[in-house]
Amino acid sequence: MNILIFGASSDISKELARQYAQQNDNVTLLGTGVQRLEPLKLDIEIRNKVKVDLFEFDILKYNNSNEKIKKLINQSDISIMLIGYLGNQNEADENDDELARIVNLNYFKVIEVLNLIQRTYVSKQTGIIAGVSSVAGDRGKQSNFAYGSAKAGLSVYLDGLRNRLYPKGVHVVTIKPGFMATKMTKDLNLPKILTASPQKAAKTIIKAIAKRKNKVFVNWMWKYIMIIIRAIPEPVFKKMKM
Ligand SMILES: NC(=O)c1ccc[n+]([C@@H]2O[C@H](COP(=O)([O-])OP(=O)(O)OC[C@H]3O[C@@H](n4cnc5c(N)ncnc54)[C@H](OP(=O)(O)O)[C@@H]3O)[C@@H](O)[C@H]2O)c1
Repeated sequence: MNILIFGASSDISKELARQYAQQNDNVTLLGTGVQRLEPLKLDIEIRNKVKVDLFEFDILKYNNSNEKIKKLINQSDISIMLIGYLGNQNEADENDDELARIVNLNYFKVIEVLNLIQRTYVSKQTGIIAGVSSVAGDRGKQSNFAYGSAKAGLSVYLDGLRNRLYPKGVHVVTIKPGFMATKMTKDLNLPKILTASPQKAAKTIIKAIAKRKNKVFVNWMWKYIMIIIRAIPEPVFKKMKM
C-alpha cells in the first residue's frame, strides 16, 4: 500500500513511517524542511526494502491546483493528517497573526487538504483518511482555547466526513491522542501516566486504520478523563485554572 503522512517531522510521523515500512508499505512524508529527514529515509529503506519519499510541503502555501500533490493523493491508499500547531494562547490574545496561524494550521488549511483527499478517494471509491485531532477540542480551557477551538472544528469535520463518505467506500478515522511526548510538548511538564510515546501513538493509529475504527484515543484513560472534564458545571469550570 501507499501511505501519505502529512506532517513529516512529527515524532509520530517518523514512527508511523518506520512501522508501516516494517509491514512492507511505501511511505511518503510531506512537510517543511524534509531534507532533514534524508538519514531517516535511507535507514528505513535499507532496513525494509520499501520506498520512502520525502515531499516538501508547506500547508500554509497549499492550494488545490498543485498537480504534484494531486498525483500523490491519487496514487495513495491511506492519508494520515498530523499537521498541527499548539501555538501560544497568551501571544494569540495579543497578536491576531498568531491566532490566524493556530486556526489555519490546525483547522482551515488542514480541511482544505482533506477536501482534496476526500474528492480523490471518492472518485476512486476507496481509501482511508485518518485525522489527528485532540481532546483539547472537547472543552475549551483558558490555556489553549484557540488551539482547542480549531481542533474542535477538525473533530466535527471528521465526524461529518465519516458520515458522508460511509456509503462511498471511503473510511475516516479520528485520532484523539491525549498527551504525547513529542517536540510539541517538550517544554511542558506532563504527567507520565497520561503521556503516550510516539511509538505507542503510531501503533495505535496503524491498528485503528487497519480495523477501520471510527474514533480512537491513544491512551484509553483520556476517554474517561474527558467525560469528567465535560461534566464539570460551567460555574465551577470557569473558576478553574486549566
Ligand atoms: N503532542 C501532544 O501532546 C498532542 C496532543 C494532542 C494532539 N496532538 C496533535 O498531534 C499532531 C502531531 O503533533 P506532534 O505532537 O508530533 O507535534 P509536532 O512535532 O509539532 O508536529 C506538528 C507537525 O505539523 C507540521 N507542520 C507545522 N507547520 C507546518 C506547515 N506550515 N506545513 C506543513 N507542516 C507543518 C510539523 O512539521 P515541521 O516541524 O516540519 O514544520 C510537524 O510535522 C498534531 O496535529 C498535534 O496537534 C499532539
